Amino acid sequence: MASTQEPAARKLWGGRFSGKTDPLMEKFNASISFDSRFYRADIVGSQAYAKALALKKIITEEEAAKLHDGLDSVLAEWESNSFQIKDGDEDIHTANERRLGEIIGSHVAGKLHTGRSRNDQVATDFRIWVREEGRKLVVVLKELIDAAVVRAENEIDVIMPGYTHLQRAQPIRWSHLILSHAWSWHADCQRLEQLLDRLNQLPLGSGALAGNPFQIDRDFLAKELGFDRLMPNSLYAVSDRDFVAEFLFWASLTMVHISRFAEDMIVYSTSEFGFIQLADAYSTGSSLMPQKKNPDSLELLRGKSGRVFGGMSGFMMTYKGTPSTYNKDLQEDKEPVFDAYDTLMGSLQITTGVLSTLKIRPEKMLASLSIDMLATDLAEYLVRKGVPFRETHHISGEAVRLAEGRSCSMADLKLEDFKKLHPAFEEDVVKVWNFEQSIENRSTPGGTSRITVKAQIDSLKAFLQ
Ligand code: ARG
Repeated sequence: MASTQEPAARKLWGGRFSGKTDPLMEKFNASISFDSRFYRADIVGSQAYAKALALKKIITEEEAAKLHDGLDSVLAEWESNSFQIKDGDEDIHTANERRLGEIIGSHVAGKLHTGRSRNDQVATDFRIWVREEGRKLVVVLKELIDAAVVRAENEIDVIMPGYTHLQRAQPIRWSHLILSHAWSWHADCQRLEQLLDRLNQLPLGSGALAGNPFQIDRDFLAKELGFDRLMPNSLYAVSDRDFVAEFLFWASLTMVHISRFAEDMIVYSTSEFGFIQLADAYSTGSSLMPQKKNPDSLELLRGKSGRVFGGMSGFMMTYKGTPSTYNKDLQEDKEPVFDAYDTLMGSLQITTGVLSTLKIRPEKMLASLSIDMLATDLAEYLVRKGVPFRETHHISGEAVRLAEGRSCSMADLKLEDFKKLHPAFEEDVVKVWNFEQSIENRSTPGGTSRITVKAQIDSLKAFLQ
C-alpha cells in the first residue's frame, strides 16, 4: 500500500502513525547532534550483528557481506567528514541505517535490524564508546602520575613545612607532598580500570526488552565486540546505566583530587608563601595590573570540578525516576558523559603540564621552617629517655611557652632551662633542632623519610610499568 503518511511513515517507527510530528518535537526528540560521536561503535556493533544473523541463517552469507561492506562505506564517510546528516536522522542508529540503505539498497539494509532494537543497540554502543575512550583516560592519568613520580625523584632533597589546618605543623619532604597527590591519582586510575572492566558486559541480543527471538548467538557477539560477559537479563540489559553513574562519579572524584592539588599549588604560588612559581605557559596576566601573574590554569582546574559533579548529580536525578526497561529519559545519559570526558581529558593533560613545568623555590620553603615545628620532636626526645609521651607533650609545650615568653627560639634555650622542665634532658638535646633529622626519623612505611619516600616512588613506578 502506497504511503500517504509523509513524513512520519519514513521514520523507523513510523508505520502506526498517521499524524505529523511537531517540528519542535522532532528537534526535541533527536539526539543525533551529540550521539553521532559514537558512529564507530554503532557501525562495528551492526557488523557483528549482521554476522550473527548469517550464522543463524536469518540472512544469507552474501547479504551479510553486503551489509558489512556497506557499513564500511558508511564508516569511511564519517571518518572523512563527508557523512551528511539529513532531516529525519533522529539519532546515530537511524542515520547509519538510512545511509546504509542508500548505499546497498533498502531490501538488504532492511534486514539488519531483525530481532534487534535501538534499546539493546544504544546500550551496546555506549558501553563500547566508554570502554574505548575510557582507556585513553587511563593513559593520560598514568602520564600525570608519571610526572609526579619524576618530580618526586628529582627533588627528594627538598624539604618544606607540612601543614594541618593550613598552619605550619611538621617538616616534610616536598616529594612526599607531591606523592600524596599521586596516590589519589593512583586510586583514580584503579577505579577507572575497575569500572571499565565492570561495564564490559554485552546488552546486544536483548531486543527491545524481552530478549531475541532468533536464537542469536550472544556469546559470538560478545567475542566479536570485545565484551567479557553477557548481561544476564534482557530487561536489565536495556535499562542499566550504572556504568554511566560510575563513570560520572569517577570523573567527579578525580576532578576533586585535581581541584585539591590545584588549591595547594595556588596557595604555594602566592607571594606570601612563594614556594612555587608557575611556568608562563600556564599563567596569565592582568589587563589592569602589570605586575600580576595569575594561576588561571589551576583556578580553571579547581573550577571545572563543579561542572563535572553537576553532570553526575543531574544524571542521577534522571536515572532515579525511570521505571523498568528502556525509557527515553535515558537518552539524557550521553551529554554529561561526553562533557565529563572532555573536561577530564583536558584537565588531566593541563595538570600534567602545570606539574611538570612549575619551578620550586627550595630556599623559600626552607626559610618557612621554624624551630617550633620541632616541638613534637622535643617531646619524642624525652620519650626516648623513658618519659611517658603524655608528660613529654606537656613539657615540650612548656618549652614552647618559655621561648615565646623570652621572644627567642627553643634552640636558644639553655640546658639549665630544659633541666628545670625535666631532669632527663641532657647535652644532646641540641640535636633535636635539625629539620632533616626530624624528617628522617619518620621512616615507618608511609612516612616522609628518604627511604620511605623512595619506596613510594618504586611502588608507583612498578604500577606504571
Ligand atoms: N537515541 C536513543 C537513546 O539515546 C536511542 C534509543 C531509542 N529507543 C527508543 N525506544 N526510542 O536513548
